[in-house]
Amino acid sequence: MKLILLSVVGLLLVVGEGTADRILSRRTKRELASPLHVGGIRDPFGSYCQRRGGCCPGRDDLCTVPYLDTICYCDLFCNRTVSDCCPDFWGHCLGVQPPFIGTCERNGNRFFTGQTYKENCNLCTCGTTGRWECEQHACLIESDMIRAVNRGNYGWKAANYSQFYGMTLDEGIRNQTTLPLYFNSVEKWPGKIHEPLDQGNCAASWAFSTAAVASDRISIQSMGHMTPQLSPQNLISCDTRNQGGCAGGRVDGAWWYLRRRGVVTEDCYPYRPPQQTPAEVGRCMMQSRSIGRGKRQATQRCPNTHNYHNDIYQSTPPYRLSSNEKEIMKEIMDNGPVQAIMEVHEDFFVYKSGIYKHTDVSFTKLPQYRKHGTHSVRIIGWGEERNFDGTSKKYWIAANSWGKNWGEDGYFRIARGDNECEIEAFVIGVWGRITMEDIYHIRHLRYL
Ligand SMILES: *[C@@H]1O[C@H](CO)[C@@H](O)[C@H](O)[C@H]1NC(C)=O
Ligand SMILES: *[C@@H]1O[C@H](CO)[C@@H](O)[C@H](O)[C@H]1NC(C)=O
Ligand SMILES: *[C@@H]1O[C@H](CO)[C@@H](O)[C@H](O)[C@H]1NC(C)=O
Repeated sequence: MKLILLSVVGLLLVVGEGTADRILSRRTKRELASPLHVGGIRDPFGSYCQRRGGCCPGRDDLCTVPYLDTICYCDLFCNRTVSDCCPDFWGHCLGVQPPFIGTCERNGNRFFTGQTYKENCNLCTCGTTGRWECEQHACLIESDMIRAVNRGNYGWKAANYSQFYGMTLDEGIRNQTTLPLYFNSVEKWPGKIHEPLDQGNCAASWAFSTAAVASDRISIQSMGHMTPQLSPQNLISCDTRNQGGCAGGRVDGAWWYLRRRGVVTEDCYPYRPPQQTPAEVGRCMMQSRSIGRGKRQATQRCPNTHNYHNDIYQSTPPYRLSSNEKEIMKEIMDNGPVQAIMEVHEDFFVYKSGIYKHTDVSFTKLPQYRKHGTHSVRIIGWGEERNFDGTSKKYWIAANSWGKNWGEDGYFRIARGDNECEIEAFVIGVWGRITMEDIYHIRHLRYL
């Protein structure tokens, strides 16, 4: 028994080549049956399975109804991709909308709905309307750009590189600096990033953040041969020119001092809070003198009489970074924590956890409840937190100097990328002044 398809081909307009050969006299292979839906032409509506008196629950090759010049099936085995199901099979037997199979053409080939191909960096999908729907990314290799460069007189030539072909411009640019979604200096440099200290009732974040950033940088740079926790007190008490001690100070002055005079460790010159009076703050108990080649040596013993290591640590001149989020991230990842200056508002003092953003909870209060000042902190990393709606919140991880009880173990997270509280406006990096000699000297002492 042969199934005749002639007029069906005419009706369906675009049945693929070779279809006739594939129509077998017996449906031993159901997927080779008449492709009624191929061609993107929807079946004529009408009652078929319904007229037949119902649907067959399993495979039943006799469960058919005449359909145009052939037959269609009402059993649950009919093929729903290249369909030989009756037109009302979906509605009547399954109670669902029939799928609509479109076809798209490309280079003389036919593709079905959902099939894809890649056009440079963009994925194209055959849509239900029979049209290709392509992504609209800018690609790394754009042929019109290459042609335009080569046609012009720019002094250089352009070429297509197969290793870049197929990448988006965003991927290409991102790859220049692979910045991870999460980064924490503590994990990259274990044992070299110093824990947050507690400045107590003394407004000397200028000294604390400077000492902390320099400590981390020296530890990283010396590859852990030296891991000094530098003394904020040394700065508070000795860096007094144009500085206010516990009444506030400037980070540029602190960096000048660290570079030209140097400081000892916290253990040698411990912090003695709180010192409110300038006289008390100003009693400097550590001096240094030059020993040539820019190096300095302490001229006094450690204020802590149990400590005999009064080595002076110095930095090179600090450098200011741009306010670009990516540049700050790259600096932290390559070289270690940075110093940042931020506006501190009344709500920051009570921060306990999460990603800080200055709130408007005090906006309606009197001005004396809404204050802000300048504070300096140490940024050590960043991350992203997923929201329920699939977007994400980007943050910096920063160390404060209000003790480990405050915030997230002395640290806080703050919104990243929006210059929240001006935190991205003034960011500073620095190198320790370390020579190989220092490293060998320390290593040597350690082995004695
Ligand atoms: C339907 O037919 C297509 C094309 O021959 C085949 O790729 C697909 O696997 C079949 N599906 C089922 C459920 O038999
Ligand atoms: C560039 O190279 C890729 C792969 O080598 C090739 O597929 C593509 O057609 C080329 N594009 C242009 C604009 O020459
Ligand atoms: C870009 O970076 C990703 C992730 O690091 C990597 O898988 C990919 O191979 C890189 N592509 C190029 C062209 O360097």
